[in-house]
Amino acid sequence: MAVSDLREQAHQLLVGNTRTAVFNGTTVTFTIPSEKQYPFQWFWDSCFHAIVWTHFDIQRAQEEILSLLSVQRPHGFLPHIIYWDRRLFQRAPWNNHWQETRGRWSFLPQMSVPHTSELIQPPVLADAVWKICATSQDTTFLSAVLPDLDRYYHWLRIERDPDHDGLISIIAPYESGIDASPAYDALLGITATTGTRAALLRFRSLMVRNKLLFDYDQQRLVRRGSFHVEDVLVNALFAKNLGVLAQLHERLGDTMGARAWNIAALRVTNALVQKCWNEERGSFFNLDGRQERKNSVLSIHSLMPLVIPWLPKEIVERLVRNHLTNPNEFLLPFSVPSVAANEPMFSAQSYLPATTKRRFLWRGSTWINTNWYLIHGLRQHGFDALADALTVKTQQLVEQNGFREYYDPFTGEGFGAENFGWSTLVIDL
Ligand code: GLC
Repeated sequence: MAVSDLREQAHQLLVGNTRTAVFNGTTVTFTIPSEKQYPFQWFWDSCFHAIVWTHFDIQRAQEEILSLLSVQRPHGFLPHIIYWDRRLFQRAPWNNHWQETRGRWSFLPQMSVPHTSELIQPPVLADAVWKICATSQDTTFLSAVLPDLDRYYHWLRIERDPDHDGLISIIAPYESGIDASPAYDALLGITATTGTRAALLRFRSLMVRNKLLFDYDQQRLVRRGSFHVEDVLVNALFAKNLGVLAQLHERLGDTMGARAWNIAALRVTNALVQKCWNEERGSFFNLDGRQERKNSVLSIHSLMPLVIPWLPKEIVERLVRNHLTNPNEFLLPFSVPSVAANEPMFSAQSYLPATTKRRFLWRGSTWINTNWYLIHGLRQHGFDALADALTVKTQQLVEQNGFREYYDPFTGEGFGAENFGWSTLVIDL
């Protein structure tokens, strides 16, 4: 298939996934990830959709960001899901929708339906706004949204770093966007012999506990909740985006603001290197719990610091040479798998655990958004040949199997949602 066909298909997909809603008298326009499974607006999906929209329609890219910002809380918080069409909100006690919201009794029909979730997702907003500005050369949009971005990143630094070490914490697996990664198994109590139902129950009971015991009060959850991770993927994207935020300030001539955000970006990077880097294994690992136990699962998290432009060269070299290009770990026919292939819990088609017959997310399959980040990361560190090879494979995945949610890293077969929004990132490589 010609690259131009892929572009056209990506455009059609985004048009097809576009929705509008009227809220408090104003109409918002946004893109849903996928009709069947994901009928609302998701935070990091929308940032990726905005990036792809810049190829076709800059106004749609801006609307994507404006709809996210329209629900920003005064102190800066931005939720991971906005339930624009509340008729689609499902209240069943086993359903995710009501569990991730405030209101202990929101599953009861007579209660009002929440407007948003109470979780975050990886803070990639600055990347999306940067792409819009780079494409349009127009600073009106940037001037309008930059104060909101500042508030959002300030909020993360203040509310999500209870031990003040520079690293922000997540309070649920869904906050990293890497929902069921084996990197979270230890904290959730999932082992190789856990059955499907028991595993599902572990996820659900965490959600129910967060709701019934804490009513999703994030300040209390960060200090006392049972799931607490200083996540490498989230913090790598945080560091990178703080650097991008600095560039956005620079663009408006605010040198002091740029300096402050650059210092913040370096602080997160230093903390990642000092606390999450394992010199012996030559890789990064999450810190579990408030006691900061070092996780040991080699997963996509471990590679994500490659997105940071100023990551020390020796570290970049080790990540690329020992892991990303290691055929026992991440170099598979359709790289980059979300878990290293030699990890005991790796499953090419994302079964959980590998012995069960139910697919969960991020347990070994390849995803387009992480490939997109890694390819751009490799280019900025001078690994152009590797980035090119990975680009070709990523394009093949989509050409041969469609815009699916995730893919088998050995065969390329696609799984999960169809017409999945962020897989259109393939046209931005
Ligand atoms: C899944 C993914 C998450 C994404 C969401 C909507 O939960 O793991 O990262 O944001 O779907 O596409």
